[in-house]
Amino acid sequence: MPSQHASPESVRERARELESTLERLRARALMLDLTRGKPSSAQLDLITDLDGCLGGDYRCEDGTDSRNYGAPEGIPEARRLGGELLGVPADTVIAAGNSSLELMYLFALWAMRFGPDGRTPWESDGPVECLCPVPGYDRHFAICEELAIEMVPVPMTGRGPDMDAVEALIASHRKIRAMWCVPKYSNPTGETYDEETVRRIATLGSNAHPAFRVLWDNAYSVHDLDDHPPASANVFALARAQGNEDTIVGFASTSKISLAGGGVAFLTASDTNRNPFLGRLANMTIGPDKVNQLRHARYFRDLRGIRAHMMKHAALVRPKFELVLDRLQSSLGGKDCGTWTVPKGGYFISFYGEPGTARRIVRLCADCGVRLTEAGAAFPYGRDPEDRHIRLAPTFPPTDELETALEVFVTCAELVTLRQRLRAND
Ligand SMILES: Cc1ncc(COP(=O)(O)O)c(C=O)c1O
Repeated sequence: MPSQHASPESVRERARELESTLERLRARALMLDLTRGKPSSAQLDLITDLDGCLGGDYRCEDGTDSRNYGAPEGIPEARRLGGELLGVPADTVIAAGNSSLELMYLFALWAMRFGPDGRTPWESDGPVECLCPVPGYDRHFAICEELAIEMVPVPMTGRGPDMDAVEALIASHRKIRAMWCVPKYSNPTGETYDEETVRRIATLGSNAHPAFRVLWDNAYSVHDLDDHPPASANVFALARAQGNEDTIVGFASTSKISLAGGGVAFLTASDTNRNPFLGRLANMTIGPDKVNQLRHARYFRDLRGIRAHMMKHAALVRPKFELVLDRLQSSLGGKDCGTWTVPKGGYFISFYGEPGTARRIVRLCADCGVRLTEAGAAFPYGRDPEDRHIRLAPTFPPTDELETALEVFVTCAELVTLRQRLRAND
């Protein structure tokens, strides 16, 4: 790609080359999908032994028959597994159904209606606000939007949310009642909160409204791609040490460890939050799927078992991340038409084009048979103020499809940038 200072004629010449490359790609009538962060079939094949691993023995370690109703808080061995995953004592954990997102939705809904502690409903203070680090997870934002919780964006920094901004907002906006956090390999930037950021998050409760809660969604805590994962601090221990244990509510699941949508979800919280929540949960269900909980607990045994399994995932996922990052670098590196994150784990890479290009890049890719997550999806109300961000999700497609999808993507990204540059010079 010609540099920013290249002559309009050389820019036009390069744009024509890219258009003919796109014509060739379009003629292949591709139907490729890089939209959602789903595990590939090969990743799911790693866990086929889960099926049938109980061998007819349904007895839990406390003697409970997992096939029968009861135990809304989950079975002891599943709560222990969840506790290890989240870095908290098992007795602070609820092991629930198949989806942590469902637990987040319920927690937010019930905090609105009844209060996070069962006493101070968020909605009793009128419209309330939630801090949303951006780019972030579109489904978190959908929960807020549905519950009419106003979203206040806060930029991510590469080391987690901008904590100066977070602290200033909490000090000045008395309506803030929540903050979303995906602390490790955040969706979609792939960054991990550094220790200083986690320490400051653990302190927020000291200055916030008493009903303020950090919704700590640690969905990717064990999704490392290599043997040198970034260190992550324990927010629960840090908060507890300052008497802020009620501020942090943690979530995790085995969705992207075992079966996507067929795993076990966990919530951890202080007694103040957990007991009222459990009370409501018990009104909603006579108990979770304990058979699924038991087979996960027997299959993995403990965190070591989970980590050993995740090394097999890494062997499948790492080459796909490398492919995407190599292709971005070889085709767009040094061309002033975008930057991207280089995550050490998780499910996503964030691409940042020139301001004003993301929607057009996504549209042009779709036109050439490659579906990407909607531009703007990683921002509250679908609005990326700079129209720059695109989420890339490399895990699901087979490698040959990923290769082709990336060819389309880099061609579109460069072409859209050049066209924009030409228009600016007209
Ligand atoms: C940050 C984050 N949280 C939660 C989920 C969904 O988890 P679950 O399947 O447990 O509902 C995802 C899935 O993409 C995610 O990226």
